[in-house]
Amino acid sequence: MRHPPSRRRETPRHNLTMERMSTGVANLDELLGGGIPTGATVLLAGPPGAGKSILAQQLLFHSARCGGTAVYFVALGEPPAKAMRHCETLTFFDVASVNKSVHYKDITAILREGDLTKLMLAIKTIIADVDATAIAIDSIKALYDLGVSRGTVRQFVYDLSFNVSLGACTAFLVRETAPDACLPDAPEFNIADGVIVLGWRTVESGEPDRTLRILKLRGSDHAQGTYRMRLTARGVEVEARA
Ligand SMILES: Nc1ncnc2c1ncn2[C@@H]1O[C@H](COP(=O)(O)OP(=O)(O)O)[C@@H](O)[C@H]1O
Ligand SMILES: [Mg+2]
Repeated sequence: MRHPPSRRRETPRHNLTMERMSTGVANLDELLGGGIPTGATVLLAGPPGAGKSILAQQLLFHSARCGGTAVYFVALGEPPAKAMRHCETLTFFDVASVNKSVHYKDITAILREGDLTKLMLAIKTIIADVDATAIAIDSIKALYDLGVSRGTVRQFVYDLSFNVSLGACTAFLVRETAPDACLPDAPEFNIADGVIVLGWRTVESGEPDRTLRILKLRGSDHAQGTYRMRLTARGVEVEARA
């Protein structure tokens, strides 16, 4: 159900009861133990082609459909126009929401300057300007690719996590990993409130075997196992909780 056009809440955003963001992804809310705690910072990790960018945008469009406002920050990845083109055939993509309740922002230029304080300020300003309920940064690994140290990435993710939680905005950080490898020992995996790992492997013929695993989600009795996932015209779909 859509909320009224002006969705600024009358109740304070930070109260003691844990509100949850519904994902809109088949079966995923149940796997997460009832959705994602509002204001959490969640990594979407996995190798190329796993469905991270699709899932991130699907989550943002769902947040907008529920009356929120979402921002998809692109950092040294697919430029916004290309990211949109890749999703426009998927049913969750609503072209009428673009630039209204779902914003695409390219932060590559600021990132290239290497000034993470400036980058954080730009992100915070955009979040405040649109009163965002959900954001995604695709991808956070771009920081490492530009030579930012582990310590600085730790600080950046910590600050982002702190800032979004204050405004009850939920943040999804796309984190590329190497194919068929263990998850990297990187600080963002420890700092994030949640880690969702997407995986895939090719099979002889037909659709690849895709998986989704919730590695952690603070404050949630989430499913522990590896679940089968599909990418279809409806976006990501996950099998039901065992
Ligand atoms: N309509 C679709 N139906 C099924 N699979 C799709 C569809 N569109 C894209 N894909 C799959 O999604 C993959 C890309 O997903 P993406 O989210 O960009 O991956 P990542 O960001 O993890 O690299 C493609 O390689 C393709 O296999
Ligand atoms: Mg991607």
